[in-house]
Amino acid sequence: MPNDSFIIVAIDGGAAAGKSSTSRGISERYCLMHVDTGSFYRATTLKLMGAGIAPEEGDALSKGLAALDLGTSVTGNAASITISNWTPDASIRSQKINENVSRYAALPSLREFLLKYQRSQADVAKANGFKGLVMEGRDIGSVIFPDADLRLFLVADPEKRAQRRAKEGIQDSIQARDRIDSSRKTAPLKCPEGATLLDTSDLSLDAVIDTVSKMIDKLIA
Ligand code: CDP
Repeated sequence: MPNDSFIIVAIDGGAAAGKSSTSRGISERYCLMHVDTGSFYRATTLKLMGAGIAPEEGDALSKGLAALDLGTSVTGNAASITISNWTPDASIRSQKINENVSRYAALPSLREFLLKYQRSQADVAKANGFKGLVMEGRDIGSVIFPDADLRLFLVADPEKRAQRRAKEGIQDSIQARDRIDSSRKTAPLKCPEGATLLDTSDLSLDAVIDTVSKMIDKLIA
């Protein structure tokens, strides 16, 4: 692959598997725009819950989604979703959102609503002069960018993941979310065929970033 081409790195995995820290590190090392799609589901969940819309398909959900005007703001290497000019803040990581986000994320209409928006982030990255995109989530390598240059699926022991969240001071429903995310019909959480599985349980963040960097170096060599 020539040095000046645009690369797409897809990083999927369960809750607290190390996706965000890895994606941030990789985005800095290779000047890639970092997109955290979990924040899209969290932010839309907050908005839908705020409008009193239950996590079920129907007219209320269709109307609620139609009222959400999506945009993007880029700060440093990170792109953030904006919804009707609101930029998501720490409130999308509250216990209430942790407990409910997977129920909304299982709704096909919400996933369809966010599909094009997620793909459009490649154009945002190009327009902002990035050398590529690193996008993290649950279905990036399977549904959003199945032809990504590199598709990774991160896993880690449940205890290690719980420790990571506790260290961040966040109360989270890691296993409950993973259960719902893995068993939903639309775009379930699973390592897609052909993706590279990386177990981060016993690796430091630096070691994970170095491992992924070697894969990217091979791609762009
Ligand atoms: O940070 P953590 O891995 O714990 O979660 P997140 O990436 O912020 O994602 C929050 C929730 O959004 C997940 O538990 C999924 O229910 C949903 N999600 C999804 O369904 N598809 C994605 N591409 C990203 C997140």
